[in-house]
Amino acid sequence: MDTFNKKKAIAYIFSGTGNTFAAGEMLKQSLSAYSIDLDLYKITNDRKNIPDPNDYDLAFFAYPIHAFNSPQFFLRFVKQIPALQPENAHMPAYIFKTSGEPFRPNNASSFSLCRILRKKGFDAASDMHMLMPYNIMFRYPKAMAKQMYIHTHHMADVLAKEVSEGDKEKLSFNPITVLWAYLLRLQWFGAWVNGPLIKAKPALCTSCGKCAKICPAGNIQMIQKNVNGEVKLLPKFHAKCTMCMNCTMNCPTGAINPGFLTPWKVNGAWDFEKLMADDSIPDNWTDNENARYFKLFRNYYRNN
Ligand SMILES: Cc1cc2nc3c(=O)[nH]c(=O)nc-3n(C[C@H](O)[C@H](O)[C@H](O)COP(=O)(O)O)c2cc1C
Repeated sequence: MDTFNKKKAIAYIFSGTGNTFAAGEMLKQSLSAYSIDLDLYKITNDRKNIPDPNDYDLAFFAYPIHAFNSPQFFLRFVKQIPALQPENAHMPAYIFKTSGEPFRPNNASSFSLCRILRKKGFDAASDMHMLMPYNIMFRYPKAMAKQMYIHTHHMADVLAKEVSEGDKEKLSFNPITVLWAYLLRLQWFGAWVNGPLIKAKPALCTSCGKCAKICPAGNIQMIQKNVNGEVKLLPKFHAKCTMCMNCTMNCPTGAINPGFLTPWKVNGAWDFEKLMADDSIPDNWTDNENARYFKLFRNYYRNN
């Protein structure tokens, strides 16, 4: 078993609504207990100053599962990072991914990523699936969200321990699950088509420009539009959307409707610090509201 001291690690994180980045922060904390210093790099459309993995001892790659896949935006980014120099070949690359539920089709989401990583010279060393509250479709009850957050903290500790011990998994993916994931890449196409269909309601939009600032894909531009005879600064959405839901979820006035995903719109990010500090919210499965999800999550929590 390999143990090491004072290692430097880099985490390349794509995070739409913040869940995956929050998991990265947990991991950073967990790794510090093993003297591994983790730099968190948030992936955006800006391709300048991408950290070179050759400057590190090990690397993490993290993304939210979108339609049972790694987002195309993320895979394109990974293709652009520098390849490993021969002396660094076989550097371990640890993948962690977040999603809203533990359905089996999520399991093959990293198959393309692993292939890209191997081409870059990495050894894909693990593929950890962490659950975080959904940012689409519906809201989990607060107690459920708390339970998920606590468990992901625990998973970060497990991953940190594995990394510190130099553990590597032999990653393989079920061909049927891979096929299913391939079919659902239709979502990539959907994201481009849907991009320009996203609209901010002029009556609700305050022209604050937050959506344009936080869009990781650089898909939003603030432009002047004529609204009922008045000129107003409004966001314009282009066709580079990754469907991460950051804009719609974090709009302070809930003004943004995400095209054909509007029926699935969820507005308002989780405040995990507040959630954790609130003792009135139970943090276990005995809560009645949580119980109805128990069946769905039972196997995941039993096995992880
Ligand atoms: C377009 C889209 C597709 C999604 N598809 C899945 C999915 O197939 N399976 C799943 O469990 N969660 C799915 N989710 C939920 C996200 O994976 C989950 O909320 C994740 O934690 C978001 O991470 P982020 O905040 O870092 O973007 C989807 C979310 C979006 C926006």
